[in-house]
Amino acid sequence: MSTSRIPAFYQLTVAERRRRLAEAVELSSAEVETLATADALPLDVADIMIENAVGTFALPFGVALNFQVNGRDHVVPMVVEEPSVVAAASYAALIARAAGGFVAEADPGAMIGQIQLVHVADPGAAVERLGAARARLLAAAEEATPGLCRRGAGPRDVEVRLVRSPRGETMVVVHVLLDTGDAMGANAVNSLVETLSPMVEEIAGGTACLRILSNLADRRLARAAVRVPFSALARDGYDGAEVAERILYAYEFAAADPYRAATHNKGIMNGIDAVAVATGNDWRAIEAGAHAYACHDGVYGSLSRWAIEKRELVGSLELPIAVSTVGPAVQSHPGVRLALRILGVSNARELAGIMAAVGLASNLAAMRALATEGIQKGHMALHARSVSHAAGARGEKAEELRRRMLAAGEVKIDRARALLRALETRS
Ligand code: MEV
Repeated sequence: MSTSRIPAFYQLTVAERRRRLAEAVELSSAEVETLATADALPLDVADIMIENAVGTFALPFGVALNFQVNGRDHVVPMVVEEPSVVAAASYAALIARAAGGFVAEADPGAMIGQIQLVHVADPGAAVERLGAARARLLAAAEEATPGLCRRGAGPRDVEVRLVRSPRGETMVVVHVLLDTGDAMGANAVNSLVETLSPMVEEIAGGTACLRILSNLADRRLARAAVRVPFSALARDGYDGAEVAERILYAYEFAAADPYRAATHNKGIMNGIDAVAVATGNDWRAIEAGAHAYACHDGVYGSLSRWAIEKRELVGSLELPIAVSTVGPAVQSHPGVRLALRILGVSNARELAGIMAAVGLASNLAAMRALATEGIQKGHMALHARSVSHAAGARGEKAEELRRRMLAAGEVKIDRARALLRALETRS
């Protein structure tokens, strides 16, 4: 059975880490080779992925460790430019592991496709007629999505809403709910609403304008929860109960103040986006859905919830996560295939659940640091590596320079250059 627990992984060389990772998740030699290939995305694949490709652009590919979700270990692939994201998620997953890790789940993939109808003479009557035609619309939707229906997914419902435009017109908005299975489903949904719109127009007696999916995928929610005993939270002169209490204050701040909630939720998305990028998913769609969902109580708030129960810090997270484990990116991008292999998921719901757990872990790590020693200590320790490299230091000198910058309490490029000059004069 694969394990996500590889102690002192961060202290190993990159080559050694690859070897240990391959062992831990049983990668084949071809997969190890993909990991070691400097440019995992061939240019001909890049060229078919987007218009006007002129090259490829690399980012660090790391793995977050220690994750246990629904009793199973998962090594979590992450692609991200921010230094602390992988370390933070791994740290929180280790704390959570002490109490059995995360539980997570995700809804079946019902995406919403919207058909906007304008110039509707009698919106109330149009709603009635569309409601009466629900079965006919669903049958037409099924006919238009034979592949999905064969795989047990397909159209689920048709709903009608009235939306008042800023100019005072009442628009009729039809929502077509489509279970897109293991696909994110944007193309399937968009094709379906384009196909159905003439029929919808005819029934409602208006003019169809937009026909497009909604990124507020609130019928495709993912959830994660965790219970952390106080004993696992003690650190740096704070006892566990004190840390839990301070984390609760951190949460209550985000729950009550949109300015704080935006940053709190950004911390959640740090982990979710990094997995989305690694697995070839549309992170802008996930971001859009998350922040829109953060307003579902009418005011922008925290996506996560935290409480204290019987000497445990108890957290949960719910947000829309529309992701895919199939499709072109998975077929053609070797790095994406490898990321899914490392994560060990077999379908989109499982992936969404794990992403929710990673989001909750990222949130816990950020709040724990913010509520105790502050975020900069950890950030600066990691940032100093980049500054040391940017100043031109390599190998042992880079590590020595990093230590000196941290000791001087100044992680800045000018300071780094001066310290490096001093180091080089001495050696
Ligand atoms: C930084 O990328 C994320 C944090 O700002 C999140 C938070 O404030 O909760 C640390």
